[in-house]
Amino acid sequence: MMRGVAKQIAIYDVDEAKVTAEVLDLNHGLQFVPMATIEGSSDVAVCADATVVVITAGARQKPGQTRMDLAAANARICREMVPNLVRQAPNAILLVVTNPCDVMTYVALKLSGLPGSRVIGSGTVLDSSRFRWLIARHCGVAVQNVHAYIAGEHGDSEIPLWSTANIASIPVAEWRLPGQGSLRPEDRDAIFEGVRSAAYEIIRGKGATNYAIGLATAKIVEALMHDERRVLPVSSLLTGQHGIDDVCLSLPTIVGREGAEAVLDVPLSGEELAGLRRSAEAIRSSIRLLGF
Ligand SMILES: NC(=O)c1ccc[n+]([C@@H]2O[C@H](COP(=O)([O-])OP(=O)(O)OC[C@H]3O[C@@H](n4cnc5c(N)ncnc54)[C@H](O)[C@@H]3O)[C@@H](O)[C@H]2O)c1
Repeated sequence: MMRGVAKQIAIYDVDEAKVTAEVLDLNHGLQFVPMATIEGSSDVAVCADATVVVITAGARQKPGQTRMDLAAANARICREMVPNLVRQAPNAILLVVTNPCDVMTYVALKLSGLPGSRVIGSGTVLDSSRFRWLIARHCGVAVQNVHAYIAGEHGDSEIPLWSTANIASIPVAEWRLPGQGSLRPEDRDAIFEGVRSAAYEIIRGKGATNYAIGLATAKIVEALMHDERRVLPVSSLLTGQHGIDDVCLSLPTIVGREGAEAVLDVPLSGEELAGLRRSAEAIRSSIRLLGF
């Protein structure tokens, strides 16, 4: 709404009182942002003919819970919701934010019957942004000049792609700036730990993460709506990339009007490849436990 990405925004939530209140609150701010219409309902028909459907319904982590702990409860919600959503909006791209994001993306894909490119997860777009911010802060540059990805699961088995991380084309391993330290192995470990534990820290402090995931999701929706072909580490179905098949996870991907248009064949070190395969296995075992 604030970025003017969509002219019509509809919110569906089983909690009628909550959705009515959210819609009122949003409409009261409409004067200050690009014009749009915002409506909401506890009837899924409010999503009829949507171009993009962002799925955020479901349980969230409580302090100490992992994202994978939410799988069974949120898969139940998907089972009931996704077929209804697809009936209402058969041409939509589904963008899954609900955790565990990669597992739910796969579940939504199977329940929807849509082609792989049209069901994507927000994946590690947020984790990569956390990663870039921590590198930028350590190296003393703007976050916009850091190019670095977190790949694999949006969760505990995710992996940092250090071998291709760079600042303005300088590999981070070679980064030097007077007055700023270089990235030593222990700094890298601390940065990655900061990424992996970020959500736990925020949930301990304020109960849920919301601003950065909202911005990250808006960026993905923008890429879809405006057919930007922007490279984003969204989660999507792998079909043999790096020897990985039939699982959703994040790798840098071209995102445009058709959804996940191409998963890029990014160069990986041996350690990164092994980590990515381990991450794929962790996601796959959760998917199998759910019976998919
Ligand atoms: N992928 C990410 O990076 C990321 C980041 C933040 C949160 N999340 C996930 O997003 C999800 C939502 O988090 P939140 O903080 O907004 O939680 P929340 O509790 O504030 O909101 C969840 C909403 O889902 C609604 N809901 C529950 N069952 C429903 C159903 N069957 N149909 C329609 N609506 C239903 C609830 O009424 C509630 O309003 C969680 O799974 C959380 O872990 C993911």
